[in-house]
Amino acid sequence: MSKLLIAANWKMNKTNSEAKRWLTEFKAFANLEEINKKIDVVICPGFHSLSVLQLLLFSSTLRFGAQDVSKFESGAYTGEVSAKQLAGLAKYVILGHSERRKYFGETNDDVIEKINQCQKNFLTPIVCISDLEQVRATASYQTEVNNHQMVIAYEPLFAIGSGQADTPENADETALGVKEILGENTKVIYGGSVDEENAVEFVKERNIEGLLVGTASLDVQQFIKIITRINFEL
Ligand code: PGA
Repeated sequence: MSKLLIAANWKMNKTNSEAKRWLTEFKAFANLEEINKKIDVVICPGFHSLSVLQLLLFSSTLRFGAQDVSKFESGAYTGEVSAKQLAGLAKYVILGHSERRKYFGETNDDVIEKINQCQKNFLTPIVCISDLEQVRATASYQTEVNNHQMVIAYEPLFAIGSGQADTPENADETALGVKEILGENTKVIYGGSVDEENAVEFVKERNIEGLLVGTASLDVQQFIKIITRINFEL
């Protein structure tokens, strides 16, 4: 089994002081050295907190991710943040989240351009998809570029923020479908109402190698329970 990736997607939550409090508590309670043997833990705060949290970084084993990036390289794009600007602050970037597709009209083509920006700047994209059509759109591009690491997060629309997670069996089937399209070495993670009760069942599935956790990651103790349970039971 390859190393699991468990990412906390804070979405548009937490001021800098709340973010610092979360990380300080995480540092006090989580045995990250131990956990890191099996799990890469990635925290994805808002852009405003990335450098603040970097300063608090207590261990090189914890990674940060951004929640989006510009599809443009640089220049007159007010409000945008480029992959080059993120490069020293994050290792991962969540792309194409269904909330971005829904509220900001993001298309598969936008996502492809963003993947390209990430890969040029050695950032690993975590590309969110809610069906295999979106994977195929990405795959048609992926063959043209280098095979830089990319993570796919399967997040069914009904499961996001609803408290109704998909079944681990369904999620595993979709994860297998992703691997059939993009290659079996593609890391596929599951997201959508993951909590401390269901987290282990997802990562026990053969084709699921991690989780993208929204709501349950906002509470540091809940997030710690998720990663420590997985570490203990797997
Ligand atoms: P949720 O969000 O865990 O609150 O369902 C997951 C996500 O949208 O990434």
